[in-house]
Amino acid sequence: MGFNSLKDVLQEQLEDLHSAETQLVVALPKMAQAAHHDQLREAFEHHLEETRGHLIRVEDALRELGVSNPTEVCKGMQGLIAEGQEMIAMGGDPMAQDAALIAAAQRVEHYEIAGYGTARQLAGDCGYDSIEDLMDQTLDEESNADKLLTKIATGGMFKAGVNQQATS
Ligand SMILES: [Fe+2]
Repeated sequence: MGFNSLKDVLQEQLEDLHSAETQLVVALPKMAQAAHHDQLREAFEHHLEETRGHLIRVEDALRELGVSNPTEVCKGMQGLIAEGQEMIAMGGDPMAQDAALIAAAQRVEHYEIAGYGTARQLAGDCGYDSIEDLMDQTLDEESNADKLLTKIATGGMFKAGVNQQATS
């Protein structure tokens, strides 16, 4: 399809996000399984549940635009997930592996934050308030997931993070 309106751009972005989230629902259990640190595994498991919700929100948003069968494939997410799988395959020191897994996961989160930020803005500009609201909710959860990953990597006042526990 060509881009003949801002709504077309919004639709394309939502279809891309739909593909990205669909891919993540498959990838996150593998990331959880590969995590050594309990908190990291739990964070991936928790984010898997959230991701299922993100997918439903994107489907709701697409339905509002009259799209019931999105076909686009998000190549960006394919690449990010492939890189994550490479991290898992490399092996090595458990905490260093977890640090690498966090690095891969944070790239995914930032990619999604960019996508949802754009989709939210486009929805607002097109007057789709309910889609804007859906994107906002997901954006919050993606941001929180990203912050939690930073916390697991860097630790807190009473607990060393993955980065400190990794063999240097
Ligand atoms: Fe998501």
